Amino acid sequence: MQDASAQMALLQFMTCGMASTVVPASIHCDHLIVGKKGADTDLEASIATNSEVFDFLESCAKKYGIEFWGPGSGIIHQIVLENFSAPGLMMLGTDSHTPNAGGLGAIAIGVGGADAVDALTGTPWELKAPKVIGIKLSGRLSGWAAPKDVITYLAGKLTVKGGTGSIIEYFGSGVDTLSATGMATICNMGAEVGATTSTFPFTQSMKRYLTATHRGPIGNLAEEVNKETGFLQADEGAEYDQVIEINLDTLEPHINGPFTPDLATPISKFASTVKENDWPQTASAGLIGSCTNSSYHDMTRVASLVEQADKAGLKPKIPFFITPGSEQIRATIERDGLTQIFEKSGATILANACGPCIGQWDRSEEKGLENNASNAIFTSFNRNFKSRNDGNPNTMNFLTSPEIVTAFIYSGSTTFNPMTDTIVGEDGKSFKFDPPSAGEELPSEANGGFTKGTRSEFYPAEDTTPVPETEVAVSPTSDRLQLLTPFEPFNNQELKLNVILKVQGKCTTDHISAAGVWLKYKGHLENISNNTLIGAVNKETGKVNHAIDFDGSETSIPELMIRWKNNNVPWAVIAEDNYGEGSAREHAALSPRFLGGKLVLTKSFARIHETNLKKQGVLPLTFADPADYDRIPSLSTIETVDLIDMLSKGGDNGGFVTLKVTKPDGESFTIKTKHTMSKDQVEFFKAGSAINYIGSVRAA
Ligand code: F3S
Repeated sequence: MQDASAQMALLQFMTCGMASTVVPASIHCDHLIVGKKGADTDLEASIATNSEVFDFLESCAKKYGIEFWGPGSGIIHQIVLENFSAPGLMMLGTDSHTPNAGGLGAIAIGVGGADAVDALTGTPWELKAPKVIGIKLSGRLSGWAAPKDVITYLAGKLTVKGGTGSIIEYFGSGVDTLSATGMATICNMGAEVGATTSTFPFTQSMKRYLTATHRGPIGNLAEEVNKETGFLQADEGAEYDQVIEINLDTLEPHINGPFTPDLATPISKFASTVKENDWPQTASAGLIGSCTNSSYHDMTRVASLVEQADKAGLKPKIPFFITPGSEQIRATIERDGLTQIFEKSGATILANACGPCIGQWDRSEEKGLENNASNAIFTSFNRNFKSRNDGNPNTMNFLTSPEIVTAFIYSGSTTFNPMTDTIVGEDGKSFKFDPPSAGEELPSEANGGFTKGTRSEFYPAEDTTPVPETEVAVSPTSDRLQLLTPFEPFNNQELKLNVILKVQGKCTTDHISAAGVWLKYKGHLENISNNTLIGAVNKETGKVNHAIDFDGSETSIPELMIRWKNNNVPWAVIAEDNYGEGSAREHAALSPRFLGGKLVLTKSFARIHETNLKKQGVLPLTFADPADYDRIPSLSTIETVDLIDMLSKGGDNGGFVTLKVTKPDGESFTIKTKHTMSKDQVEFFKAGSAINYIGSVRAA
């Protein structure tokens, strides 16, 4: 669990009354740390701002026997790769990029906090059997092409919806040419195509990585088990629901964005695409690292480019930030002289934390960005929805490999192609990058492989035996943390609701429950709910965060929700495709439920968000005929006709729920909608939430 989502997961776990977790668990303090000036000052300031939350998480960890990885230790997925992931492991993580662990052959799935509570309490965790997309890799990467390009290319092919309901499994001869960390990068960004998870078969590079991270015996065992059983590789003659082939020999670097990770442009076409779309022709910053791309391999390749530029007398033209994924990476690249190369060039090394990747980026002192000015940044991160990085909706984030980001930093121009173009230095001489070196897959064994560094305060206690008498303090006056009051159970009557909002177009979890400044309220449901759907576009007015009440008064969306909640008017939201795409953010389900939402009716859902809604007692339905979306205006009344029947059959009623719709002008009609409620999920709905249900089962 990362620190932002762990708060709500643990607040929910606490309501179950258990003395310890049933499976091993860990907490990682990474999302709440702001990037601004550099690691030391930023970390100190962020610890001061968030001490109440960190103390809460640490006390929960102690009480329930959970590993606590403090602020500065690193980003959850990198720490998992370095310490926990292993071929054949099955793991849930409260973050959508949990599949990063697939780089070591794990099946690792991103979930919401309530799903994590399933694992923590030993409750069976359920998933609709996914399809399997096979990606056949052949050839070998060379030159500028990097593992990141496998997934940026694939995102363009599959789009943000293409992996929904599927596991992506890589196979083919190209797999054996990749480093474990390169495979982790590819699995990490499988989240961007909506995949349930991504995974690779066992490879020798996994064994090498396990050895370098001081887990040699696990690598040996994996190899042995695989030889005996073949469980860690594709079955002979395996059939996939879909196969896509990628030849690594000819793969071109790609740049994806802005504002969506599937807008993929090969580098050779990027300059013309920038001009055609009138995107800014100057870049404003370059950022590398994060959970996606801060491996030793990445850093050595980037260092080879920085050294070339340095030799030619070039300096970065725009701010250059580097986020190490963990203290282990930071300490190792410092020991091996890479940090010195970066710092000499003028790069800023940020704390080992999410920082700019999740809106925790303070650019207030940068000139030219006043009033949300349009600007372009290049990052080696994984996600680029509007406002994601610096809170500015006009910051265009172009996702690419760290090598390509670095080249843009020295050019400063968005129309630059490092494979063909030159940069003119201050001395008037032209400089052309050679492709990055092949890099070092791992730190040398002679140097002792990876070092953990000397900051023992970043690491968890050796002994994680639960200490039940530990007091978990939550102040009643805190604006950061609030104990939960269970949601009321279903009253066993057909629902009757009003449509509070009809959402137009893309509506990600960032639109439903914005991050950035709101992250600090993750443990306080009432306060964070003031952000509910503030990023959504109202289909009828075309405006963002705009709603209209029965009396015609105009309000923000959360204001109207609070008003209706106070007046006991339950409500529904109507939306279009892939509603809730993007992340496992359970607040995107908790907040609507807290504010009186009972039904979300869409053309389609993103898987994790749909599950999260069910866990919080909200009914997710999809239009049997998507054209019905156009027939229902806001303020309509919706009544379920056969919900009780569906619930009484444990969801096994053929998969439909009928709705009677009465429009504000009095016209009335019925429509058919589809549900995916399983037997357990029906129990969650009836109990008011999954936690209520688990608590009652545990008590019994
Ligand atoms: Fe953190 Fe960004 Fe990764 S928020 S976990 S660095 S995707």
